[in-house]
Amino acid sequence: MYKLIRPLLFRLAPETAHHLTLQLLRVGGLQPIHALLRWMYLAPRKPVEAFGLTFKNPVGLAAGYDKDGIAVRGLSALGFGHIEVGTVTPRPQPGNPKPRVFRLVEDEAVINRMGFPGKGAEFAVHRLSSVARHRSPVLGLNLGKNKDTPLEGAASDYVVLMQTFSPLADYLAVNVSSPNTVGLRRLQGREMLEALLNEIALARRTLHIAPPMLVKLAPDLSEDELEDAVGVILDSGMDGIIATNTTLACEGLRSKFSSESGGLSGSPLRARSEAVLEKIVRRMDGKVPVVSVGGIMNPEDAKRRLDMGAALVQVYTGLIYRGPGLVREIVRSL
Ligand SMILES: Cc1cc2nc3c(=O)[nH]c(=O)nc-3n(C[C@H](O)[C@H](O)[C@H](O)COP(=O)(O)O)c2cc1C
Repeated sequence: MYKLIRPLLFRLAPETAHHLTLQLLRVGGLQPIHALLRWMYLAPRKPVEAFGLTFKNPVGLAAGYDKDGIAVRGLSALGFGHIEVGTVTPRPQPGNPKPRVFRLVEDEAVINRMGFPGKGAEFAVHRLSSVARHRSPVLGLNLGKNKDTPLEGAASDYVVLMQTFSPLADYLAVNVSSPNTVGLRRLQGREMLEALLNEIALARRTLHIAPPMLVKLAPDLSEDELEDAVGVILDSGMDGIIATNTTLACEGLRSKFSSESGGLSGSPLRARSEAVLEKIVRRMDGKVPVVSVGGIMNPEDAKRRLDMGAALVQVYTGLIYRGPGLVREIVRSL
């Protein structure tokens, strides 16, 4: 069916198409459409355990699709084993000026420079409070700092978000890897990451409910930087790593949008994301689970990541090109 819908969606500006599908899925949270979607996209059970949680299958929705948590019920009908909402920032912010998302059709890719637009934590709390009771896939929440919070004060943004969302999410992801918030990726450097994660770990000890904490990394770290980051993540007692976010390396693309600034996702990210997964798995030696994301466009890609040692996988750009049926297709193939 997506074969019929895709040409229509691709006639719209990417952000308009995104907005439209999100609103449709919002309606898809209501009965009887929810039941119909569940029937259409039902995936077989392939349970996986990771960071103390049970996932009905290893395929999740990556952060950035439902930034404010407005369509979780509808999304939960599409067969995902987990859904990562966000990135949520403490206060609302508009993000970068439009256009800020570009479809690179010839490359099966997307470039985005959204810059965490969102309605802020209070709005997301309101939305998630109404779905939390009947959440069926595991619900993750991806946390980011506001654009106008200085890097030195970033920890307080993450701590406030952690305290706010701990009772509402099954896991939390510390996003220090989006390329569209100036300076954010510097938080992946050894000293800054150590200070940030130690502060988060300290505040976490005071929580009644302390969900697993993951850290989402960029694909553009050098070997030494990655080694440092993984070491700090292990030492600070975090529960997992999500690898990777989008890349700033845009060479070798064919589309006319290839020189747009922003983070690249989809097929051209595949090799980079796999290389990072391989290094992390080797360094972690099974101590901490890895969620692999970046360029997973078909069942073979997903299977390879799991064979390489990923505990879970996530998709985003693959859904834009293949449609929601991709989730079931992957799960069936495992
Ligand atoms: C339009 C768009 C918006 C995104 N927004 C976020 C975000 O807010 N937070 C985040 O951690 N990742 C965000 N991402 C990155 C994805 O979660 C994912 O890491 C990346 O796209 C690589 O996976 P893919 O190749 O399957 O798309 C975004 C990606 C896209 C395409």
